Amino acid sequence: MIRPVRTAVFPVGGLGTRFLPATKAMPKEMLPVVDKPLIQYAVEEAQAAGIEEFIFVTGRGKHAIEDHFDRSYELEDVLRERDKTDMLEAINSWMPKAGAVSYTRQMEPQGLGHAVRCAKALVGDEPFAVLLADDLILSPRGCLVEMVEAYNKVGGNMIAAMDVPQEHTRRYGIVKPGKDEDKLVEVKGLVEKPNPADAPSRTAVIGRYILQPSVFDHIDAVERGAGGEIQLTDALARMIGEVPFHGLRFSGTRYDCGDKVGFLHANIAFALHRQDMRKDAAAIIREISKTL
Ligand code: UTP
Repeated sequence: MIRPVRTAVFPVGGLGTRFLPATKAMPKEMLPVVDKPLIQYAVEEAQAAGIEEFIFVTGRGKHAIEDHFDRSYELEDVLRERDKTDMLEAINSWMPKAGAVSYTRQMEPQGLGHAVRCAKALVGDEPFAVLLADDLILSPRGCLVEMVEAYNKVGGNMIAAMDVPQEHTRRYGIVKPGKDEDKLVEVKGLVEKPNPADAPSRTAVIGRYILQPSVFDHIDAVERGAGGEIQLTDALARMIGEVPFHGLRFSGTRYDCGDKVGFLHANIAFALHRQDMRKDAAAIIREISKTL
């Protein structure tokens, strides 16, 4: 029987060193793309996919995230006094229900595998999704929506998959593919950040996962891997053969917002995608490109 996915884990405990100095005192996940923090995009994507419980694995200096997912009575009062109903809607309409959000602290950023392991007690014995907010995906229906639909047919573990240039394989977990048809690719092996010459394919793991709870035992069993961190990919590699394991080639475009250029790209793409900003954004881009 395929058990439904109701819970999502958001690991937000990383240091965000690629984005210093912006991330010195502010979490990377609160960086806004146009007018919305990255973490809100991820939470809304999870809500669209039917997620009911939201678990944040936080770290030092991440209070802004907790405040963002809480009511702000003073602000609400001022907006109400000023009749700003659209703004009231903008700060509240996407808020998860009271009690649906939980937080745990990673204490030390020992890697994504370690961050996910910290959520074990809160997740319990259920399949769950993991969303990395810095992988922002502009897609017509939502990447996790597509993954949940596919998962409900095949079960097991599922990752979001995307082909990357051969020379970029050392930035990603890379899939050794099996049967590859329609949008689903069977995962026969996984290697974290391989050199291009050693990569088993160009198919990379992107920051969306649906995982079976047995992953926690596998995280406990792995040694520190690439970069001296406890890698989620290494734990997932141990589950191949134990549960069905697929990559979903999602629709849409993914932006690496943990990287400065990727973040800039996302801001331009999202602004051009917005009805209310498209014209102005396009005019600015045309104006600047004339000077290049
Ligand atoms: P990254 O690989 O982007 O690492 O993490 P990072 O520390 O956030 O950023 P850089 O590389 O130093 O610039 C991918 C995701 O995993 C989370 C991050 O918050 C991000 O969402 N993460 C990473 C943790 O929660 N804990 C960790 O120990 C590492």
